[in-house]
Amino acid sequence: MRAIKYTQVLNRFQSTKVFNEFMKLRTSTLLVILLIICMLIFCNTKIKIDDSVRLVRYKGQHIGTEFERFYMNVSPDKLMDPLIHKHHFQTFLNTGKECKAKHKFILVLIYSASYKFDGRQVIRNTFGSISNFANRDIEYVFVLGQTNNDTLQDQIEKENVRYKDMIQGNFIDSYKNLTFKRVFSLFWVNKYCKDAIFVIKIDDDIIINIPFLINYLNDKESKKITNVLECFTMFKIEPYREPRSKWYTSVSDYPFPTFPPYCAGPSSIMSINVIRQMYKATSIVPFFWLEDVYGSGFLPWVLNIKVVQPNCYIKDMHQSVNKKPCHLFYINNLKNVSDSYEMWKTLETGYTFKQNHSCKCW
Ligand SMILES: *[C@@H]1O[C@H](CO)[C@@H](O)[C@H](O)[C@H]1NC(C)=O
Ligand SMILES: *[C@@H]1O[C@H](CO)[C@@H](O)[C@H](O)[C@H]1NC(C)=O
Ligand SMILES: *[C@@H]1O[C@H](CO)[C@@H](O)[C@H](O)[C@H]1NC(C)=O
Ligand SMILES: *[C@@H]1O[C@H](CO)[C@@H](O)[C@H](O)[C@H]1NC(C)=O
Repeated sequence: MRAIKYTQVLNRFQSTKVFNEFMKLRTSTLLVILLIICMLIFCNTKIKIDDSVRLVRYKGQHIGTEFERFYMNVSPDKLMDPLIHKHHFQTFLNTGKECKAKHKFILVLIYSASYKFDGRQVIRNTFGSISNFANRDIEYVFVLGQTNNDTLQDQIEKENVRYKDMIQGNFIDSYKNLTFKRVFSLFWVNKYCKDAIFVIKIDDDIIINIPFLINYLNDKESKKITNVLECFTMFKIEPYREPRSKWYTSVSDYPFPTFPPYCAGPSSIMSINVIRQMYKATSIVPFFWLEDVYGSGFLPWVLNIKVVQPNCYIKDMHQSVNKKPCHLFYINNLKNVSDSYEMWKTLETGYTFKQNHSCKCW
């Protein structure tokens, strides 16, 4: 009995040892499997996080819960601005006869501060002089606000008598008022230029590579891509919380740690369909003074429109003069007017107008 007991115990001991070994093996296998599952979940959540950024919808299912709380329960008094939400806009100066008369392939909206006569003139003297390229009509419109300075207003009106390429919205032209300019532009396009195919928004220190852009957009049109919002994309940008910053954003104005993806201010490409939807969306999105975040971040976000950055999108002008022009836009970072003229000469006489070539720019 004792012996039996002993062997039984031994057996038991041995079997537990085996069992333990077995378990050890299983545990490590299990651990490996768990690790793999974890990695999969991690990868998945990573994808999901990025997706949620893109797939957020105002009244759909994919909206992030925090953003949802902030925007779905927005009190009605935050949607009462006579301009942003009620669209009580007035247009002074030109009212888009050109756009109405002839359907435009591209409408270029140039955001120009009232006093920036020189910046406007540079554009008129360079790419802005090309109103048709490869049988595509291009329209250029300078978007201004109002000024309290009567002398300045007189000069603006004279400038417009001469060039007929300016519109002026009923808000004071200032940096802090740029969101008004953005929504006014959406209003104006919807009212006066809604047959354009693409709308390009630029600042007055940009030179457009017109031949490239026409080519690029012809391709989009032939592929029947209707929701186009392309630009130099800003991802996971954190609001400035330092009150002395030029771009200060209080937590009560925007409580989240990062902004949705949005377009860097200087330029963006939109299809007319995107413009139309964004105009509608302005009536339900509370005012936010950072125009690029509001107009190219919040609006596409609630509409579930993806912000895309094309290859070879934008480059510093000064570094690109006399080089093969491979980008769609060039920016005058040094604010030296002669760079703009040099860049345009490069584009005009360079490869693009005369011969085809393959560009490598990334
Ligand atoms: C008003 O505009 C004129 C012309 O642009 C300018 O010379 C003048 O300094 C401006 N006045 C004020 C008070 O800003
Ligand atoms: C625009 O900015 C000025 C000050 O820069 C301000 O007085 C005005 O109320 C703002 N809003 C509109 C709609 O013009
Ligand atoms: C602007 O650029 C031109 C050509 O690159 C240069 O000759 C000129 O000195 C620059 N002007 C200023 C004010 O920097
Ligand atoms: C360049 O253009 C010519 C004539 O238009 C064409 O025959 C040739 O295939 C083009 N080359 C490339 C690389 O696109």
